Amino acid sequence: MDNSSTADWFQDRIAAAITPLLPGFAVEAVAEIDSTNTELMRRARAGRVEPVLLVTERQTAGRGRLGRPWQSGDARQEASASLMFSLGLPLAPADWSGLSLAVGVSVAESLDPSGAQKVGLKWPNDVWVNDRKLVGILVETALPANGRPDASRYLVIGIGVNIGAREADGMRTPPAWVHQWRPGVSAPEVLGELVLPLVRTVLDFETRGFAPFAERFAARDVLRGREVTLSDGTAGLCEGVTWGGELQVRTDAGLQLISSDEVSVRPRGMAF
Ligand code: BTN
Repeated sequence: MDNSSTADWFQDRIAAAITPLLPGFAVEAVAEIDSTNTELMRRARAGRVEPVLLVTERQTAGRGRLGRPWQSGDARQEASASLMFSLGLPLAPADWSGLSLAVGVSVAESLDPSGAQKVGLKWPNDVWVNDRKLVGILVETALPANGRPDASRYLVIGIGVNIGAREADGMRTPPAWVHQWRPGVSAPEVLGELVLPLVRTVLDFETRGFAPFAERFAARDVLRGREVTLSDGTAGLCEGVTWGGELQVRTDAGLQLISSDEVSVRPRGMAF
């Protein structure tokens, strides 16, 4: 059965913009898949490490951070109710810390360049508006295939953006969606706006690390100055993010730097 997407995702235009930065880059659009991240990780493990963007209309087993499932918009709604895609490419930064935060900066700035919509960042890389979740980001890496001698890994960045209105049912954080301030914009249009800045961000991160993104993260940090609770029970005042991308929490025991991806953080009073 043909699994090609019936929507026009502007594949040619995206490929033309990205190929000068990532030679050999391809854009693939499928109607349905288990998970765009799972598919690109599968390919990497099988030795397919070419730069690619994979977008889909439906995921049957979408994945979120910390092993959680990621539910896209109601399948009974139009397919463009949410945007789900993964970008895969080999990357060899000297230090990987802060990459997922830099990705969040790129996505938040693309969705709300002026900051007028209060699109913010909730460490490490959720995109929130008024304590509601607009975008989820899942960053994964696979070891280089076939024992490549360089220090590169295959990076997979999965992004899910709520485009149309959706119910909060079963979600830890109630949703926000792009149509709240841009009614009528389509998932392919939003994809077209996100991809080039995202690729530039990743390549910039590869050479310069997180430091150039730290102030831009701080400008949209929704936790800084708020009391927070961590999933390991720690509580304290959030003092923002370091130049290495760690979360700073002032607790009774002193300043704690949180870097673990396994820890979840919430503003005090919001349930885990
Ligand atoms: C999170 O908030 O926990 C991360 C959610 C990431 C969802 C996107 S949708 C496209 C890509 N494929 C997946 O299975 N997950 C990511």
